Amino acid sequence: MKINKSWWKEAVVYQVYPRSFKDSNADGIGDLKGITSKLDYLQNLGIDVIWLSPHFKSPNVDNGYDISDYQSIMEDFGTMEDFNEMLSEIHQRGMKLIIDLVVNHSSDEHFWFQESRKSKDNPYRDFYIWKPNQPNDWISFFSGSAWDLDEITNEYYLHLFVKKQPDLNWENPVLRQEIYKMMKFWLDKGVNGFRMDVISLISKDLNYPNFPEDRFGDLSFYANGPKVHDYLQEMNQEVLSKYDCMTVGEAFGVSAEQANLYVGKERKELNMIYHFDHAVPRDENCFIDPKPEFTLTELKQIFSKWDVATGNDGWNTVYFGNHDNARMLSRFGDINQYFQESAKMLATVLLTLRGTPYLYQGDEIGMSNANFQEVSAYNDVQVLNAYKTLVETQKHNKEAFLAACNKIARDHARTPMQWNSAQNAGFSTAEKTWLKVNQNYQKINVEAQEKDENSVLNYYKKMIQLRKNTPALIYGEYQDLRPDCNNIWLYTRTYEGEKILVMNNFTNQNQEFEIDFLINTKELLLANLENENDVFNQKFVLKPYESRVYLVW
Ligand code: NOJ
Repeated sequence: MKINKSWWKEAVVYQVYPRSFKDSNADGIGDLKGITSKLDYLQNLGIDVIWLSPHFKSPNVDNGYDISDYQSIMEDFGTMEDFNEMLSEIHQRGMKLIIDLVVNHSSDEHFWFQESRKSKDNPYRDFYIWKPNQPNDWISFFSGSAWDLDEITNEYYLHLFVKKQPDLNWENPVLRQEIYKMMKFWLDKGVNGFRMDVISLISKDLNYPNFPEDRFGDLSFYANGPKVHDYLQEMNQEVLSKYDCMTVGEAFGVSAEQANLYVGKERKELNMIYHFDHAVPRDENCFIDPKPEFTLTELKQIFSKWDVATGNDGWNTVYFGNHDNARMLSRFGDINQYFQESAKMLATVLLTLRGTPYLYQGDEIGMSNANFQEVSAYNDVQVLNAYKTLVETQKHNKEAFLAACNKIARDHARTPMQWNSAQNAGFSTAEKTWLKVNQNYQKINVEAQEKDENSVLNYYKKMIQLRKNTPALIYGEYQDLRPDCNNIWLYTRTYEGEKILVMNNFTNQNQEFEIDFLINTKELLLANLENENDVFNQKFVLKPYESRVYLVW
């Protein structure tokens, strides 16, 4: 089968959450100049593409995912000049930049909404979704009704997120053209593509039905609306196809079966999407009744399902963490006894599966959950709203709520980047940072790991290089050799006669197994523990959280 090659299939992507990456002006908030000062670090790590979470003007109710001006920079982060400088420095280092496109909703402080709410016949009225009465029982992702009464015109507007994030009306062609114009503005500047926020939600069912009886509160009901593909094809035709850019859609509520409707070659919509099948559930109940973490078998099934579904027609993404999930090491590793081993094992998996890998800032040094003791330590509107509803109003147990937050809250992934062992982990010289620094920074930080040849950071560097130098790790067919095993993730990647065998122990016990295809000889390419390269043996014993990558033939 002929495989289409693309730079974005070969790229290693790194997500920067600007608020928490590096503060250059001592206000306790990360900024663009801070990012620019750390580009050598990212280049050294081997990163090809930086995905920057929103950097636009915003009142920051949802940390920039509520944009009040798509063409200016959030004051906390700097100026357009700082942006231009950052972009040019990224390009000079041979890296690329994709930015967040947040167009399911805007901020209520956006000029469009300010106009829209003024009167029923305002030219911007139809930029948003207004109804004389609340048409259905929809609820917001962040607690409460998804409809809010605006007193000026006495009508309701839709907001699938908080009420300061009104949903844009994609039915309106004038709005769509405005969005395409704005996208061109950034692409013409030299930006290399977009990560598209909740793009699966932009088309609404115009009947505005209630939740089906057996699905009340199932937020995926909002996804894959009737015109989503028309809109994405139009966007592709009018904007994306005119540039050599990369696109990745946040595909909340999209199933593996639906994936290639978004990313199939002939569809002319997006390059990739990322799914939520292995993400922490995000409905309100998760804070009183957190679901048990995925087992390894479940994870493997999810991955295989998406690998098969996207196949050679589409393309997959691989991620285990981002700014909306708890830290991947706290979820799938062992932060105490096997910190190094499990962090490196997760790096191995992330960088050897088929699909473009997305690293989330700090994961490359093994940052873990924050362990906050009080609700006041959290900043995220999702936790704060859930607390009001569940604990203050519905009187659920506060300790249980906090315990759930300590497992799944998004702020765990948003604590400042740990650069060194100085004050505030070298993130900022301010007295107070916008979110508390994780107290393990004395032990876990970039500077210490740069000096230590065996660190998690140096392992990531090696793993990234190995991926880049091994076509089978990029394009190779994926085969899970033990789909039903809950202890090891064992697979091959095969491409043009090259076979890579990857083994990962997800437990704190030794795991013994035999490979059932004949290995004539093998070469150990990378491992997270010292071991002998026993060339002929078919039998393996992996120590706790051990990973090995072999070339076999
Ligand atoms: C998904 C983003 O990743 C998340 O951080 C945000 O809260 C929602 N979309 C709303 O924009």
